[in-house]
Amino acid sequence: MLSYKHIFHAGNHADVIKHLCWLGVISYLKNKDKPFTLFDTHAGAGLYPLDSEQAQMNSEFKTGISTVIHATFASDLLTQYQSLCASYWDDYSYPGSPLLAANLLRLKDKLQVMELHPNEVTNLKNTLKQFTDSKKAHVHHRDGLEGLVAMVPPPSKRGAVLIDPPYERKEEYQAVVKSVSTTLRKWRNAQIIIWYPLLSDRAKGKTGLSERLVDDIVKLKCETLTVELIVDQKSSDTGMYGSGVCIVNPSWGIDKSLSEALDEFCQIATPAVNRIQWYNRQ
Ligand SMILES: C[S@@+](CC[C@H](N)C(=O)[O-])C[C@H]1O[C@@H](n2cnc3c(N)ncnc32)[C@H](O)[C@@H]1O
Repeated sequence: MLSYKHIFHAGNHADVIKHLCWLGVISYLKNKDKPFTLFDTHAGAGLYPLDSEQAQMNSEFKTGISTVIHATFASDLLTQYQSLCASYWDDYSYPGSPLLAANLLRLKDKLQVMELHPNEVTNLKNTLKQFTDSKKAHVHHRDGLEGLVAMVPPPSKRGAVLIDPPYERKEEYQAVVKSVSTTLRKWRNAQIIIWYPLLSDRAKGKTGLSERLVDDIVKLKCETLTVELIVDQKSSDTGMYGSGVCIVNPSWGIDKSLSEALDEFCQIATPAVNRIQWYNRQ
């Protein structure tokens, strides 16, 4: 079952927290001269036209990038995110995680991206070819969690992973835990960002699965930092009332830069974002 299409959600509040975190981790890796490799397990199409029928259906980007694009920020991370998005905003489009990452790579760095949907993988290849130096980015048409385990550790042993599944199936939550556990056995200092939805009781069988995922990641006895952006009441009828990122082996200073960025985002977000929750566990 591959019915999920990110175009319906591109640029929403969940993309904001996920992509800020992704950029923060990549920026930290660039502080050192040594090369690094990035892995994006569920890459999507790479670029999303916001004037398309699908994106316009619920206009979810109005809860995210639309509010960010014209504001002025003190946060370096939010300013960097805004400026990367701005060149695509000129065509009323939003860049996904592989395109954002490809923009930041140096000549010596590598990007390994995985996508299972045949149409999305074709779109992704075309997008990376059109907008980036595609030699640095390698697109794999395969299962992202299996691909990750097969490809780590990278030669330089430095790098980061973004795990951003659609969570269409209940089994995907525990598949993430298993893949993270195996990845850490092979590559102990991998920085891994796991995005997850926060689901109200309306989600029935999926309610609580994200919380269990985070608990199980923490039990892997690695350092973790978890931040959640709550945009609605948990009791509401909205289904997804927010989302979070669990960062395994968080880079030094990511908590501060993310906190500054999210605080500023919350001040301008529409509808008003209720709150940010942090957990720091070792
Ligand atoms: C949430 S979207 C990714 C968005 C992207 N990470 C971003 O931030 O721009 C999830 C993607 O995973 C793809 N997908 C679903 N199952 C997959 C699997 N087992 N392996 C790799 N990709 C998969 C879907 O086709 C979809 O494009």
